[in-house]
Amino acid sequence: MKTIRDLDLDNKTVIVRCDFNVPIKDGIVVDDTRVKAALPTINYLLSKNCKIILLSHLGRIKTEEDKTKYSLKPVHKCLSNLLNRKILFSSATSGTLLSDMVASLKNQDILLVENTRYEDLEGNKESGNDIKLASTWASMGDAFINDAFGTLHRAHASNVGLASLLPSGIGLLVEDELRHLELLDDPKRPYVVLLGGAKVVDKIGVIQQLVKKADHILIGGGMAFTFLKAKGLEVGKSLVDEGHLATCKKIMHDYPDKIILPEDVVVSTSMEDTSLAKTIAIDQFEKDEQGLDIGPKTVATFAPFLHEANTIVWNGPLGYFEKKPYDEGTKSVLNVLQTVSADVIIGGGDTVTAAKQFGFDNRNSYLSTGGGATLCYLEGKDLPGLTAIMKEGK
Ligand code: 3PG
Repeated sequence: MKTIRDLDLDNKTVIVRCDFNVPIKDGIVVDDTRVKAALPTINYLLSKNCKIILLSHLGRIKTEEDKTKYSLKPVHKCLSNLLNRKILFSSATSGTLLSDMVASLKNQDILLVENTRYEDLEGNKESGNDIKLASTWASMGDAFINDAFGTLHRAHASNVGLASLLPSGIGLLVEDELRHLELLDDPKRPYVVLLGGAKVVDKIGVIQQLVKKADHILIGGGMAFTFLKAKGLEVGKSLVDEGHLATCKKIMHDYPDKIILPEDVVVSTSMEDTSLAKTIAIDQFEKDEQGLDIGPKTVATFAPFLHEANTIVWNGPLGYFEKKPYDEGTKSVLNVLQTVSADVIIGGGDTVTAAKQFGFDNRNSYLSTGGGATLCYLEGKDLPGLTAIMKEGK
């Protein structure tokens, strides 16, 4: 795999695809993990005296109104603060305004281009990997670096298209992420996977793959209720993915000792009124109750698996951690992970946000910037953004 270090980039104009798809509230970036993660590549290119053009998507652009909601202006501010230098910003994603700005760039200038998905309003050009759009962008630079790890599973004009047109390599962030994920190809055992999050549908493919490879899969979060129902338990008004009950049942039948499910849960009859929250054993559900977190017995059941593990992967919060008291399960498991000696890889936007929010800092841990991309990697699926870099012939 060609990396940024394999290309001769001295004094060149380099286009870098970043993943600045970050949470923004009231015009401010609320979690700058992905922006910080782009800094090593940007600093490397500054050391090579390059002109740097940064591209990224943010959110999904379906209407004109989405453009205001998903402007990269807050990221521009965040990046300028982090780098403590002036960053140029192009509000145009193509056309003469952009090409004029590019033409006037000096060495070590950094230009952030507005959300590449603005181009989706006209024929889905960015998300549909429109080759004309990719060519327009390619004409702005001498080389292309893909450093958008979180977007490797997408085939966009700004990652796959550009890689097909310019000398290309992966950036330092993508290299680092892959180095950590490659540890999972031959993990130190016991290998334990902790999965949460709301929907089974997002992770069923990963579970089907990982159940063959991992020693245990501990399941919490909203997705646990589909497994519990598949086991024949009543789960009240909890989230259930009816379409995947049979698959969950089969997985538990084929690997009876590998899937570890909650033994108790925190339930409520109202999401808003937290005074109604209570912990119940898993077979005590009332019809109007919804499961919102794992309980303390479950944390105690999960703990020995985590202590004995030598490799742990975690994707998906174990409860509705954004709202107290449903943050307790996720918080308690993070406390356990704080004390384990295993290599811990945490992926997925919400899980990483939770880890940061609750002050998790185990030094054997790696917080990945990938959500869907990490899951695709674990599932063994093709990552178009990487495949495009690997193809020769530019
Ligand atoms: C992500 O956050 O998973 C990536 O930035 C991809 O975003 P998308 O799901 O909107 O394509």
